[in-house]
Amino acid sequence: MSQVEIETLLKKSMGLNSVSVGSATIGRAVQKRMNARSEPDINAYYHEILHSRPELNKLIEEVIIPETWFFRDTKPFQSLDTLVKEKYIETVASGKKLRILSAPCSTGEEAYSIAMVMINNGLTSNQFHIDAIDISNRNIEYALIGIYGLNSFRGNDLGFRDKYFMDSPEGFILDNSVKQSVDFKQANLLDSTFRLNRDNYDIIFCRNLLIYFDREIQNSTLSCLSGLLKTDGTLFVGHAEGGALIGTWSPSKEFPGSFAFKKPDPHIAAASLKNKPVTAKTGSLAENSNSLTKKIFNKPTGKPFSTTSKPATSSLVTKKDSSLADATRLANEGHLVEAAKICESHLRDNGPDTEAYFLLALVREATGNRNQAVDYLKKVLYLHPNHYEGMVHLSSLLELLGDADGAKIINERAAKIQNKAG
Ligand SMILES: C[S@@+](CC[C@H](N)C(=O)[O-])C[C@H]1O[C@@H](n2cnc3c(N)ncnc32)[C@H](O)[C@@H]1O
Repeated sequence: MSQVEIETLLKKSMGLNSVSVGSATIGRAVQKRMNARSEPDINAYYHEILHSRPELNKLIEEVIIPETWFFRDTKPFQSLDTLVKEKYIETVASGKKLRILSAPCSTGEEAYSIAMVMINNGLTSNQFHIDAIDISNRNIEYALIGIYGLNSFRGNDLGFRDKYFMDSPEGFILDNSVKQSVDFKQANLLDSTFRLNRDNYDIIFCRNLLIYFDREIQNSTLSCLSGLLKTDGTLFVGHAEGGALIGTWSPSKEFPGSFAFKKPDPHIAAASLKNKPVTAKTGSLAENSNSLTKKIFNKPTGKPFSTTSKPATSSLVTKKDSSLADATRLANEGHLVEAAKICESHLRDNGPDTEAYFLLALVREATGNRNQAVDYLKKVLYLHPNHYEGMVHLSSLLELLGDADGAKIINERAAKIQNKAG
């Protein structure tokens, strides 16, 4: 018995692929829980989480990555705004309620951003309904409080903060008009009961979750989302996740760069899903993790401090080299300049290195320097032509920079790699 069994259990219960966060991260979380339980024996701890859902939930709380902020990535929210103006204003005028799902919602910033778009368009609470779910009870409780620190506000366009928040010593307090328009619940997207008793949605935001799943669980999650989305509905995924949908879902032509997709044609979907959908309850998961390149740090953008106590963000350090591990940690903490300096000095001392270039690319991307990020990602792919994450980042950056053809080519390469890995 070892950590491997615990990783398998985590994968089965919440979908987490240990390759995506690194075994070291999971190891630290397990150790933390073992210390809290005064349990020195990993076998005994494994048996405890096998039989105690509350303790398993506590371990899940330790391994999740709650990183999020208001209007993250901007473009999806601009596209949502256009969708509401061009399509849904008419729908709600005819008496139908617009239904939106934010899953996972983490600490609520995404769902509340959606609500602000609705309210800005003059929609009233009886014209739209927003469900927001997350596996973490702690995140849901935080969302329900509705008080946010500086780390939840990134970028320069913060007019929404003046409009919908009140500054206070505890943090920025969200206005009740927005707070009351989201229905938060704890739920596991992998749970076989997740779809039960839910009406379909017009719009689903499922961003920055699929990156933590392997191909098989990505497929089962996408199949669940497809079942929950209306025929003409729109799914928004994260900018590193488009590759998982290629070949089945259709990228929305109206909203390039938003990672917006239309439902898959059921015939194509059936042909491309090699693996049967699995659920947290029914299991049958492949134990072999796929060979996707390890992610080395979790969305580094943003300011390093918060005026309220937000759940801690786990860092995704998997690098054997300690200087790059330091750079990764610094990036996770928001110290991007320092992280970049370490990478540059690592490259000077050791010569070309895929992970240093990749981390530098993510840092440049996070600080808005897309062209430099593209240059570093090209170096990554030169050294490591099958670097999947490098490809998805490069493809999304090219799209944002207006090179749709280049983005398409790289995206197709990424999809091929992932198909092979799956
Ligand atoms: C990085 S956040 C993404 C939040 C938001 N969608 C965004 O893009 O900013 C990932 C969230 O996924 C949640 N999560 C992980 N596995 C989950 C599952 N199986 N079901 C529901 N939520 C899950 C975590 O608790 C975490 O809050």
